[in-house]
Amino acid sequence: MQFHVTSGAPSALRTGALVVPVFADGRLDGAAQAADSELGGAIAEVLRSGEIAGKTGEIALVHAATHAVKRVLVVGLGARESFQVSSLAAYAGAAVRYLGKRNVTSLTFALPLEAGSAVGQAASFLIEGALAGTIDSTTYRTEPEKPIVLERLEILATADPHEFDRAAIESGIERGRIIGEAVNFARILALTPANDMTPRHLEAQAAEIATSTGLAFHALDEAQMAEKKMGSILGVSRGSDEEARMIVLEYAGDPTSREKLALVGKGLTFDSGGISIKPAQDMHEMKYDMCGGAGVLAAMRAIGALRPKINVIGIVPSSENLPGPRAMKPGDILRAMNGKTIEVINTDAEGRLILADALCYARELGATRIVDAATLTGAMVVALGHSAAGTISNDDAFRDRFLEVAKTTTEKYWPLPLYDEFSATVKSEIADLRNSTGRAAGSLTAAAFLKAFVGETPWIHLDIAGTAYTESETASLAKGPTGYPVRAFVALAEDLALQPAPASAHARNGATATAAV
Ligand code: BES
Ligand code: MN
Ligand code: ZN
Repeated sequence: MQFHVTSGAPSALRTGALVVPVFADGRLDGAAQAADSELGGAIAEVLRSGEIAGKTGEIALVHAATHAVKRVLVVGLGARESFQVSSLAAYAGAAVRYLGKRNVTSLTFALPLEAGSAVGQAASFLIEGALAGTIDSTTYRTEPEKPIVLERLEILATADPHEFDRAAIESGIERGRIIGEAVNFARILALTPANDMTPRHLEAQAAEIATSTGLAFHALDEAQMAEKKMGSILGVSRGSDEEARMIVLEYAGDPTSREKLALVGKGLTFDSGGISIKPAQDMHEMKYDMCGGAGVLAAMRAIGALRPKINVIGIVPSSENLPGPRAMKPGDILRAMNGKTIEVINTDAEGRLILADALCYARELGATRIVDAATLTGAMVVALGHSAAGTISNDDAFRDRFLEVAKTTTEKYWPLPLYDEFSATVKSEIADLRNSTGRAAGSLTAAAFLKAFVGETPWIHLDIAGTAYTESETASLAKGPTGYPVRAFVALAEDLALQPAPASAHARNGATATAAV
C-alpha cells in the first residue's frame, strides 16, 4: 500500500473516494465545505435531510459521478468541543471498512481543521486506524468475505498548499504505519487457532521479528526452564504434549543506560482449564489467551522499527493448559524460579503460574521496570466489561504515568487497588501461595499473586481479559482480537525514552532506609 500527502481543492484530487468529517453541530468547514460547494451543496443536503447528523460512527455516501473524486464519504465525528486527534483512528477505520468492502481501493482522507497543529499525530492515528480497518476474521475461509484491498491512502492536509507541515505529516504517517501494522500482526496471531498457534509457533514468530527488525532473540525450552527451576510454568505445561517456551526479544536503544523496561505477556495458546476444566460454552474463545504475549511481540516489533532511546525487553511465557495424563492436579505444589512454593487450588488459574516464572526471569535479565499484560481473569470482564483494561501496580507514580501516556492512545485503562489484604488472601496454609481464592475481587487477588514475584521492581499489571477481543464488530473494527495492549506498550516505551523517569524504586528504597535509621 502507498501513502501520500496532498493539499488543495477536492477537484484536483484523483481518488476513489474523498472522506470528509462532519461534527454533530452540522457546520461544514475545511475540505467538507470545499467539497460541498464543488458538488453544489450535496453534502449540506445529506445533513439537512437528516440522513446523517454527525454523531460518532455515522456514515453517508454521496455519489459524484462527474466530479474528480467520484464519491464523498461523510463520516460523523461527534461533538466538536470534545474532539481528540485519537478519534481519527475510528474515523479512518469506519471509512476503510465501508468503502473497502465496496471495492474502493484508493482513499483520500481530509483532516478536520480541529486537528490544528497536531497534524503529525492526526496522520498517525488516521493511518493506524485505516490499517486496523482492513483486517477481517474470515482468513480461514476458502473464499474470504469481501476482502479489503487498499492500494493507495492519501491525506488531504489543507486547502492551502502553503500552509501545512508536510514533514510532520509524513513522519506521522510512518509512525501510524508501524503501529497499525504491529497491531494487525498481534491480531492475526490471536486469530490463529490453537492447532496452528502453539508455543513453538509463537517462538518462530518472535525469531522472525528478531531477524527482520534486528532485535536480540532467545527462547528457553523445557529442559532449559527446568535448569532455571521454573517449576511454575512447567507445572502448567505438563498436561500438554506441546512443549512450553519462554520467549525473549531484546531491544537495546540506550546502551549508556542501565534502565531496562520489561514487557511481559501471557502467551497461553489454549486454555481448556486443565483438570479444573472449563465448561464447553465459549471454550473456543480461549485460543485468545495468548493476546498479551502477541501484544508483547508486536510491541517489540514496533519499538524495533521506531527506535526510541530506551532499553526494552519483551518476555512471553507460552504454554498450553490441557488435562493430559501428566497434568498438574488441584492440590499439587509447584516451586517457582524464585523458590516460592505454590499450592494449585484450581488448574484454571494457570495464567498467574506461567507469569510467575516470567516475572522472575525479567528481573534476572535486569529489568528495572516491568509491565505485564494478560487475559488473566473472567472477573475483569465482570468489573469493567469490554471497555477498559484493569491497571494494578505496586508503584503509584509509575501507574499514574502509564495511565497518562495511555490516554494518548485509543486504548483505555482504568486503575484498580492493590491492598495488602489481597496479599494475605493469596497465602496458602500449606505452601507460600495458593493460585486461587474465593470469588471476591478475583482480578485483584490475581494481581496480588503476581506481586509476590516482582520484589521491589516498579511493576504494572494490565488485565486485558475484557479488552483483548470483542464479540461484535463495530463500524471501524472487525469482531475478534483488538490489538490491546500494543498501542499503550509502544507509547510507554516512547514516553520513557523521551523523559527517563526518576527510578522511583531507588527513591523508595532510599526513603525506607532513611525511615529505618
Ligand atoms: N484465561 C482465563 C481468564 C479469561 C476468562 C480470559 C474469560 C478471558 C475471558 C484464565 O486463565 C482463567 O481461567 N481464570 C480463572 C481464574 C480462577 C480459576 C481463579 C477465572 O477467571 O475464572
Ligand atoms: Mn484459565
Ligand atoms: Zn487463561
